[in-house]
Amino acid sequence: MAHIWINSCLFLIHFLIVQGSAKIPAIIVFGDSSVDSGNNNQIPTVARSNFEPYGRDFSGGQPTGRFSNGRIPTDFISEAIGLRSIVPAYLDPKYNIADFAVGVCFASAGTGYDNATSDVLGVIPLWKELEYYKDYQKKLNAYLGEQKANYTISEALYVMSLGTNDFLENYYAFSERRSQYTVDQYEDFLVGIAKNFITNLYRLGARKISLGGLPPMGCMPLERTTNINGDRCVQSYNIVAISFNTKLKDLVTDLNKQLPRIQLVLSNPYYIVLNIIRRPSLYGFEVTSVACCATGMFEMGYACDRYNPFTCRDANKYVFWDSFHPTEKTNRIISNHVVKKVLNKFM
Ligand SMILES: *[C@@H]1O[C@H](CO)[C@@H](O)[C@H](O)[C@H]1NC(C)=O
Ligand SMILES: *[C@@H]1O[C@H](CO)[C@@H](O)[C@H](O)[C@H]1NC(C)=O
Repeated sequence: MAHIWINSCLFLIHFLIVQGSAKIPAIIVFGDSSVDSGNNNQIPTVARSNFEPYGRDFSGGQPTGRFSNGRIPTDFISEAIGLRSIVPAYLDPKYNIADFAVGVCFASAGTGYDNATSDVLGVIPLWKELEYYKDYQKKLNAYLGEQKANYTISEALYVMSLGTNDFLENYYAFSERRSQYTVDQYEDFLVGIAKNFITNLYRLGARKISLGGLPPMGCMPLERTTNINGDRCVQSYNIVAISFNTKLKDLVTDLNKQLPRIQLVLSNPYYIVLNIIRRPSLYGFEVTSVACCATGMFEMGYACDRYNPFTCRDANKYVFWDSFHPTEKTNRIISNHVVKKVLNKFM
């Protein structure tokens, strides 16, 4: 009797340990400033934020290169799936493969799907992010051994977050792409690049992939400030975001049919962000149309300066930290929403 009882206890303990261990061994991030945790600090570009007041609400008040006063969405997602509370940047020399084995970020502020977008500020193009990922796979094999590395590669959660810069920093800022493509054609061009990227990532072993949709980009403070119709959201940009997101949704449906065992999902931040902007008080915000940093109308990067006397005291009252990027509090709300609505299927 005792023997059987001990055996079933051991079985139960074993079962609990297996069940309790994180189902997702790592989080692997591609994209732009919405998820860059410091890669741009290591390259020559003006698309930087590794100085105060950036990071003033981050652990230790450190400006890490995240474009916010604190953590960014992928940090919150990492924590929500049982991993570390931050996702380190691959190019940051403070971290090594032991850290990257559970979370790594290849994102670069200012980049986009289109090579011409990353050229604007001389940042890391998306294809190069994938080259870094291949390099990472080699290091992971050497560090974990091939079998465990394969497990991490196939079970990790891959997060992609980009696209806003293709429209706001490239298509609507310069005439080259506008002379080549209508906006509808340009959306299709970008979706084609997304499709190739995801297919290549899949061939390299990725299975669980979250493709990020666009936020209501016409409501960013910079766009509102420069709106000729007063400080309202620029409707035409929001319409493009909705249309692009619909095309991404179709891409997700197609690739789930085409690529065996892929689990591709669309994490669409559009409606939660719009809801925050329309009903800020529901979420405890007071200011939506201008950002916390400096005058809140134009400034980001180097223009968001520690000596600017206008920078707000309490970023938790603001939806946006600088004229282009949300506060940590907004990032937390968006991440919780996406985890609950979309990513929970992986947990
Ligand atoms: C972007 O540039 C890379 C490297 O030159 C190239 O391989 C790729 O085809 C380019 N992508 C597009 C869509 O032109
Ligand atoms: C790891 O994955 C690669 C590529 O899919 C495969 O060729 C290799 O046999 C795998 N190794 C182990 C130990 O499972």
